[in-house]
Amino acid sequence: MLPFLLFTALTATVLAELELQSNYTELSPAGRVVGGQDVPNHTSWPWQVSLTSYVKLASLPRFGEILPHNNPCYITGYGRISTGGSMSSRMKQASLPIVDHQTCTSSGWWGSTVKTTMICAGGGAQSGCNGDFGGPLSCKVNNSWYVHGIASFVSGMGCNTPQKPTVFTRVSAYIEWMNSL
Ligand SMILES: *[C@@H]1O[C@H](CO)[C@@H](O)[C@H](O)[C@H]1NC(C)=O
Ligand SMILES: *[C@@H]1O[C@H](CO)[C@@H](O)[C@H](O)[C@H]1NC(C)=O
Ligand SMILES: *[C@@H]1O[C@H](CO)[C@@H](O)[C@H](O)[C@H]1NC(C)=O
Repeated sequence: MLPFLLFTALTATVLAELELQSNYTELSPAGRVVGGQDVPNHTSWPWQVSLTSYVKLASLPRFGEILPHNNPCYITGYGRISTGGSMSSRMKQASLPIVDHQTCTSSGWWGSTVKTTMICAGGGAQSGCNGDFGGPLSCKVNNSWYVHGIASFVSGMGCNTPQKPTVFTRVSAYIEWMNSL
């Protein structure tokens, strides 16, 4: 599954490169991850941010931690604001409660497309959309925020198709690998 995660991350980065329309500052083009071996330069966007009352650090979950159905979570990003619509010039957030694995893999929902290494959230009017992929799903647990998902895909029938929640890579499935890097 590791190659899958890497592939997903790279694909998401490529999509973001192609579709990002906001004017962000990138000090060193060589710091880009796409298709190369360079690692992001710590002084370049998005690594250089200031923590404020609006910008805070989130934690990462423990290995194997599974959130309950309806756990409150938010996706954030600059992706399309409707299916096939325009990108957002401002960061947006959408409330996407967790859809548990049993529900998400049931018929009428995602079925066997969704694996145990993935996590579903939403399924109603709000969703992630193109340009959001690679971004975080931040979830509130015990009054603290944890990044439980990395936005991965939505239905080809439309970003907010009913019973097709936004699907994320499950961070708690890969956290040991992440910590080993
Ligand atoms: C992006 O912002 C910089 C600094 O404000 C400006 O010099 C540059 O022209 C902008 N680029 C685009 C494509 O808007
Ligand atoms: C990161 O980028 C800055 C600005 O371009 C540059 O001065 C610095 O040497 C770079 N650091 C590394 C480790 O590449
Ligand atoms: C949240 O609190 C419960 C009850 O104290 C505890 O069992 C659980 O491990 C906590 N979860 C996290 C992520 O800290």
